[in-house]
Amino acid sequence: MLVHEVGFKRRNMEKLYDNRPIGVFDSGVGGLTVARSIRRSIPDEDIIYFGDTARVPYGNKSKDTIIRFAHEIVNFMIAKKVKMVVVACNTASSLSLQALKKTYDIPVIGVIVPGVKEAVKVSKNKRIGVIGTHSTVSSGAYVKELKKVSSRYRIFQGCCPLFVPLVENKMINDPVTFEMAGRYLKTFREKDIDTLILGCTHYPILKSVIGKVMKDVKLVDSSFAVAREVDSILRDKGLSAYGRKRSGKIKCFVSDNVEAFRNVASIFFKENLDIKKVIL
Ligand code: DGL
Repeated sequence: MLVHEVGFKRRNMEKLYDNRPIGVFDSGVGGLTVARSIRRSIPDEDIIYFGDTARVPYGNKSKDTIIRFAHEIVNFMIAKKVKMVVVACNTASSLSLQALKKTYDIPVIGVIVPGVKEAVKVSKNKRIGVIGTHSTVSSGAYVKELKKVSSRYRIFQGCCPLFVPLVENKMINDPVTFEMAGRYLKTFREKDIDTLILGCTHYPILKSVIGKVMKDVKLVDSSFAVAREVDSILRDKGLSAYGRKRSGKIKCFVSDNVEAFRNVASIFFKENLDIKKVIL
């Protein structure tokens, strides 16, 4: 009787495991901040990361173009049998998430809503700043989501176009980066904000520089909130790999030079990454 019960439970648990990978993508290396947080909170999961390095930056491109790029990437991921997709790019989340959700029947999430939820949790004075790419800021995606929570939020937005190439060139603690942070963030310092959303997945890499300019302001890196959301969706839908016998692996695909990506990716992942170039 006991043996039968154990066997029954084990069979049930096996049914609940889903070892297919999670797909995570960005225009370049920035989304690795999200992949890293997913890996830390749910280490059993395999991840397929796609960095569209041949076409970075996305931040100055039109909505139609971003929707096309995002579909090409998700089609590639579907062929790799992902069980869920995380759009780890604020620009692609702002411009293509709705279209992706309509096209695919697996869960697809972006980074905007988790970032907003986090900002709302930490802001006391309801004065929130948002920095991002030109496309993210002009889409108004953060403003729309924050206003859904309460019309009483005062929101101040600005774009920081040079932050992405500075990160991609590993100029993290460079005087030029400090200079640019000072210029970009000057107006935010005059607005009495208590919270600043880092609305581009590249920006958490510059957290220490931004933090020095924006003293006493809470910086919101949505990657942790995204990881929590991924975990909760996988558990709700019975898609989690939780409890299997080996820890998850990350495989990266890029649309341009592998070694250039490896070089910058070393900021995020200390392990030697498995990276392949693919043409979509
Ligand atoms: N990391 C991307 C984002 O979160 C943008 C960088 C780019 O312009 O491609 O918006």
